Amino acid sequence: MKSKTILITGGSSGIGKKTGQYLASLGHRVIGTTRKVVLESEQLFCEGAMSLVTMDVSSDLSIKQALKLIYAHCENIDVLINNAGYGIAGALEDTTVKETIDMFVVNLFGVMEVSNQVLPHFRKQGYGQIINIGSVAGYVSLPFQGLYSSSKAALLSYSKTLRNELRPHHVSVTVIEPGDIKTNFTANRVYTTNTTEKSPYFIRAKRSIGVMEKDEINGSNPIVIAKEINKQVNKKHPSIAVTVGFKYKVFKLLFTLLPTRLSEYAVFLIYGK
Ligand SMILES: NC(=O)c1ccc[n+]([C@@H]2O[C@H](COP(=O)([O-])OP(=O)(O)OC[C@H]3O[C@@H](n4cnc5c(N)ncnc54)[C@H](OP(=O)(O)O)[C@@H]3O)[C@@H](O)[C@H]2O)c1
Repeated sequence: MKSKTILITGGSSGIGKKTGQYLASLGHRVIGTTRKVVLESEQLFCEGAMSLVTMDVSSDLSIKQALKLIYAHCENIDVLINNAGYGIAGALEDTTVKETIDMFVVNLFGVMEVSNQVLPHFRKQGYGQIINIGSVAGYVSLPFQGLYSSSKAALLSYSKTLRNELRPHHVSVTVIEPGDIKTNFTANRVYTTNTTEKSPYFIRAKRSIGVMEKDEINGSNPIVIAKEINKQVNKKHPSIAVTVGFKYKVFKLLFTLLPTRLSEYAVFLIYGK
């Protein structure tokens, strides 16, 4: 196996941390990112462990500074994994435009900005790989997680377009779609400010998010995502989109086969009532 240089956003926790540690243990050079301040002297950039650099994907300047530091230590980046993201919960009517923008800035625009800053290097070196962390919520529009679902649906659409635009440049784009994974995602989920007892949706929203949180807490270990990402890193022709886990693959198939009216009603019964 050829050792690769892999940059993963959101390397401080959950899926990103586990994936970074796993890929580093296989001999890859892995650089993870965090918004926390990491002193340059604390960065190792060595094999066998994941290094961390400071990067806020919502700041062009922060991305630029992090990439400058990485290129000062590593001659190239082979793989970019856009993983940083968070969830927002609440009824659509209880969500402000500002809250929506804040979340899209991380879950979609951050992916675009990091990719746009790495792509000139990929095109120059004549190859590269982008792996974006989507979600099952990208094709199952979840009640009371509507804007999070929208961000992941947009990410899927963006990634498919990017893949075709980059085809002649030998840069592949893959979306990994996790289901419920046990990480800090649950604790880091943000409730919209209007999700209060005054909201006509409050009881349903609380119940629905309660179901999701229970599923996440009982979800899979993030190693299952790390292993799938490693598969894609080693593939000659990486996949377009991969849903991880048998249960979620069946969901996806049902969503493709069943009439939309029926699949959406099933979603209502599970999450919307
Ligand atoms: N857990 C699940 O059930 C699940 C299911 C489907 C998809 N996903 C997706 O998987 C990805 C990783 O989530 P996770 O479950 O591992 O959650 P997590 O444990 O909360 O980790 C989130 C990571 O994103 C980083 N992050 C958040 N905002 C950032 C920003 N503005 N700039 C840079 N980094 C930022 C955090 O780093 P710092 O706080 O250190 O900056 C952290 O490392 C997300 O895209 C999420 O949507 C998760």
